[in-house]
Amino acid sequence: MAFKKLSLFFSVFFFFFFLMLSIFVASTSSGFVDLATSFLSTISGGHWVVLQHSVGVSAMHMQVMRNNKVIIFDRTDFGPSNLSLPLGHCRHNVNDTALKVDCTAHSVLYDIALNKIRPLTVHTDTWCSSGGVNPNGTLIQTGGYNDGINKLRTFTPCDDEKCDWTELPETLTDKRWYASNQILPDARFIILGGRYSFTYEFVPKTLINGKTSEKDNYLGFLKETRDPHEENNLYPFLHLLPDGHLFVFANRRSILLDYNRNRILKEYPVIPGEDKRSYPSTGSTALLPLVLTGLGNGTRLPDAEVMICGGSPPGAFTMSDRRRVFLQASKTCGRLKVTDPAPKWVMEEMPMPRVMSDMLILPTGDIIIVNGATNGTAGWEDAANPALNPILYRPNEHPGRRFQVLNPTTIPRMYHSAAVLLPDGRVLVGGSNPHTTYNFTAYPYPTDLSIEAFYPHYLNLEFSHRRPTIITVDTNDDILSYGEMFSVTFSLHVYRLDRGISVTLIAPPFSTHSYGMNQRMLVLDVVRVQQFFPFSFKITSYGPPSSTAAPPGYYMLFIVNAGIPSIAYWVQIK
Ligand SMILES: *[C@@H]1O[C@H](CO)[C@@H](O)[C@H](O)[C@H]1NC(C)=O
Ligand SMILES: *[C@@H]1O[C@H](CO)[C@@H](O)[C@H](O)[C@H]1NC(C)=O
Ligand SMILES: *[C@@H]1O[C@H](CO)[C@@H](O)[C@H](O)[C@H]1NC(C)=O
Ligand SMILES: *[C@@H]1O[C@H](CO)[C@@H](O)[C@H](O)[C@H]1NC(C)=O
Ligand SMILES: *[C@@H]1O[C@H](CO)[C@@H](O)[C@H](O)[C@H]1NC(C)=O
Ligand SMILES: *[C@@H]1O[C@H](CO)[C@@H](O)[C@H](O)[C@H]1NC(C)=O
Repeated sequence: MAFKKLSLFFSVFFFFFFLMLSIFVASTSSGFVDLATSFLSTISGGHWVVLQHSVGVSAMHMQVMRNNKVIIFDRTDFGPSNLSLPLGHCRHNVNDTALKVDCTAHSVLYDIALNKIRPLTVHTDTWCSSGGVNPNGTLIQTGGYNDGINKLRTFTPCDDEKCDWTELPETLTDKRWYASNQILPDARFIILGGRYSFTYEFVPKTLINGKTSEKDNYLGFLKETRDPHEENNLYPFLHLLPDGHLFVFANRRSILLDYNRNRILKEYPVIPGEDKRSYPSTGSTALLPLVLTGLGNGTRLPDAEVMICGGSPPGAFTMSDRRRVFLQASKTCGRLKVTDPAPKWVMEEMPMPRVMSDMLILPTGDIIIVNGATNGTAGWEDAANPALNPILYRPNEHPGRRFQVLNPTTIPRMYHSAAVLLPDGRVLVGGSNPHTTYNFTAYPYPTDLSIEAFYPHYLNLEFSHRRPTIITVDTNDDILSYGEMFSVTFSLHVYRLDRGISVTLIAPPFSTHSYGMNQRMLVLDVVRVQQFFPFSFKITSYGPPSSTAAPPGYYMLFIVNAGIPSIAYWVQIK
């Protein structure tokens, strides 16, 4: 008996011993992401699932939080929504332009796992506002319209059903309606632009005797990029570059801004073609994944490349708004390697024209372009021909093979829609309300209260054997420190790794008006991959090099195996 047990023990022992001997160390090359995504040369078109036919509010703004809940909100000044607030929670506001006493919700919290919503109470008007999550995981939400135009709001996630919106007593120094936010390396936010606001400022505010000491910083660029009547410079695109300076794009122009000294360090070439890219000629943007492979623990900074897609030709807003003639949207995307000494835009054509589309970075490093229309502009009743098919863009593929048209939804997502990446790799889409009130009978684009998920190809069942499952992240309290190595243990349904494995981090964007503020992906520098049990692996990589490359905060960590991502594990970069 004892002998039998012993021999079983030895055979098991030798099996593992053999596997441990075959520890394999992955070589890390800068083409790591390349490899992972181009492995699947043709990609199936994914599919759509309606999650909720009505969440009661139209998803104008969305933010994924670190506890796997999504804050969704609209505006407060268009009358009742389709969702009641809990008893005794009515909002009394003499300054509201529609309802002085409003007992309906204009914000909800969506629980991803339970597919359930809870109504929240917003106090002032959040119409066309901006936001971002601070390093401790609190949403800092800024501006809006009317009584909300210079407000600061917070939402701190909780594990019970109690947390709700808070309004801060301090206010913004300028009006911020259609402004943009970017988190900075020192954990502040810069709030830049807005309608008639040619300035920027910082949050949080330092209060001295109950007043903010700070003055606005004037930025002439914002005035210069404003077109008479049409504007075309609102919701400027901001990207924090790895050297800590800020890329600012509005209309067709872009600059590198030293926001601490209020100096324009350089002006980039104007994006080729006539098309306008900023609201209401709303294009979209992404900072392409920052690839840290080969850079070690942080003395060298990664290159950075900005991509901008879609928009509308000059005059399109006047034509749609005054004459209801909907010009064809822009078909082009431009890529600019902003860290090059003399960068040049490289232009590409999308498979179809697009305006008001969202651009999201997927865990694989590919980009999905979703929502929007093919004619017209942003604005009330100002667009036609919904773009129902998302597009996949693979930045590292050969030119000509980068774009792929994916399977269509049936629900138009026009003006005032939004999209975010969920930690499980799906894309959450919601909203669409091109009207001044909720109008469920408007034809052909009624106010839409549904939320829907797009399942990209990598979620197909046929890839489940390749999908890594993260078991542990071996750091204290899931904190990644700058430049320090850390390991992730994960399992796979196969006993051997096939090709390309990478570790990616995504900062979840604040999504509104086709712009994912603070969206950022880092592809970490992998040091080694070890196999220590038949289906279990350990991957070691360097944390991000600096707070300029990765501002502090919560990120979704993915292990991507041969183009198939794990479910995200939340880590905090400090
Ligand atoms: C409004 O909510 C009700 C349920 O409360 C639902 O039946 C209806 O479909 C919703 N309306 C829209 C347009 O989503
Ligand atoms: C309404 O607006 C007035 C004037 O701006 C302001 O003094 C008052 O505090 C506002 N009331 C509320 C409830 O916001
Ligand atoms: C996070 O920051 C917010 C805003 O500054 C603050 O209200 C909140 O208490 C902080 N939470 C933690 C856990 O530090
Ligand atoms: C980074 O690497 C360099 C060279 O390998 C080493 O000298 C330095 O101590 C490392 N720094 C950290 C923070 O690990
Ligand atoms: C969209 O634009 C195309 C090209 O200009 C035009 O032919 C078409 O009529 C437009 N569609 C609508 C609905 O305006
Ligand atoms: C809703 O839209 C339709 C036109 O599509 C219009 O006739 C109707 O007046 C609108 N309802 C409201 C309440 O604005």
